[in-house]
Amino acid sequence: MNVYDSERIAAGLKPLGYEITSSLDMADLIIANTCAIREKAEHKVYSFLGRVAGLKKRKPGLLIGVGGCVAQQEGANILERVSHLDLVFGTHAIGRLPGIIRQAGLKKGPIVDIDMTTQIDNFEPVMDRKDVNRVTSFVTIMQGCDNYCTYCVVPYVRGREASKNPGKIIDEIRSLAQTGVREITLLGQNVNSYGKKEGLCSFHDLLSLVDKIDGIWRIRFTTSHPKDLSENLIFCFKDLKKLCNHIHLPVQSGSNRILKLMNRQYTRELYLEKIDKLRSLCPDIAITSDIIVGFPGETHTEFLETLELINRVKYDNLFMFKYSNRPNAPAAGFSGKIAEREKNERFQELLTLQEHITTQKNLALVGSTELVLTEGLSKKQNRLDKNIESSVVQWTGRTSTNRVVNFLQNGKRPCNENFTGKLVDVKIVEAFPHSLLGKPEFVRATPPV
Ligand code: 5AD
Ligand code: SF4
Repeated sequence: MNVYDSERIAAGLKPLGYEITSSLDMADLIIANTCAIREKAEHKVYSFLGRVAGLKKRKPGLLIGVGGCVAQQEGANILERVSHLDLVFGTHAIGRLPGIIRQAGLKKGPIVDIDMTTQIDNFEPVMDRKDVNRVTSFVTIMQGCDNYCTYCVVPYVRGREASKNPGKIIDEIRSLAQTGVREITLLGQNVNSYGKKEGLCSFHDLLSLVDKIDGIWRIRFTTSHPKDLSENLIFCFKDLKKLCNHIHLPVQSGSNRILKLMNRQYTRELYLEKIDKLRSLCPDIAITSDIIVGFPGETHTEFLETLELINRVKYDNLFMFKYSNRPNAPAAGFSGKIAEREKNERFQELLTLQEHITTQKNLALVGSTELVLTEGLSKKQNRLDKNIESSVVQWTGRTSTNRVVNFLQNGKRPCNENFTGKLVDVKIVEAFPHSLLGKPEFVRATPPV
């Protein structure tokens, strides 16, 4: 969501004459778009702002701003900690940024705008991406969250849940398709409740509309809340051709007592029922999840219940987090905080288990042929380009199940062949914990029907 917001920021500033630069030294304006989900993310903001303070001394006209969730959470308080800021703008203020920057430039600052009343339909989309040559894109379809999980800061910094009008979403995706985007990921904190509040169409209806957009080959979405995962949505995985074969379904914990304390509003049994239903309709669907270890009061036995659930579901991948105290969230006041050392141990145990599961699943794919949507040169290739001359050209993309596949350009092909945006059948030759390596076999002009 922050990536999407950063793009909205960049697009909104273009009419003012700003362009993206990769060098901080060159910048006339530096904006830190921030995340407050865990303490570590917040620390990063302050250390980044500390680093850029020196630039301001060398270049007095330089403007420095902070946007996003930390800005929303702290408001003017940030100025007490970071005195060299010119602007602080919250999660709903991106549309007002050009005006804020003008004012800051006139030295009317520091300007603070953390008003949260702007509705999502008034958020300008990021249509102007013609200069961006890329294959995948995010599209935010909802803002905020009404779920109030007790560990989570999102409802406080992104506000109440609200859905974007389907017409606007479709227009935005159509225009992205025209710029060459082939895969879109629909974003919301809880996409399953899309449109319910406003009486718009349901999320599965929205997916059917997106499925019909010419030029879009793949659709993903994130995140689904298990309590709201409907049968209709599960059927979409079977019925919609373009919907990728992957669902991210955060479980957070395998213990019913902890789930209750987290206010997740489902039980382990209900969650497992939904997994069974998904797998009965789509046996090869990839399932990923989020886990928090060391939630206040989590006993070792309860942690073992989480490991047991993971062993049972055998996730394709997991995002694992150590519980992080968020002052605004209710769990900050819960008793039974777990020591850092214990959280680290549980985290390591979880990591080892999941690495084993992911590696086993990846190894099972060696010898198979996977359809990969190529996103560009792999990071390794970019490094090679800078450091040494190399004849090995390595591309990267993803399978429908969201596995990263790197593949080496076939020697018989011309070296300047560009695979970006192409669907390639790749024969998998090697498996790693976080990616697969393969050889290209066949390039498709359009997705197979
Ligand atoms: N501590 C640790 N992890 C958290 N998450 C959200 N809030 C916290 C927190 N306070 C994790 C959840 C969520 C993911 C985006 O971040 O697992 O699904
Ligand atoms: Fe946070 Fe829970 Fe909302 Fe997700 S569903 S954003 S974890 S409050």
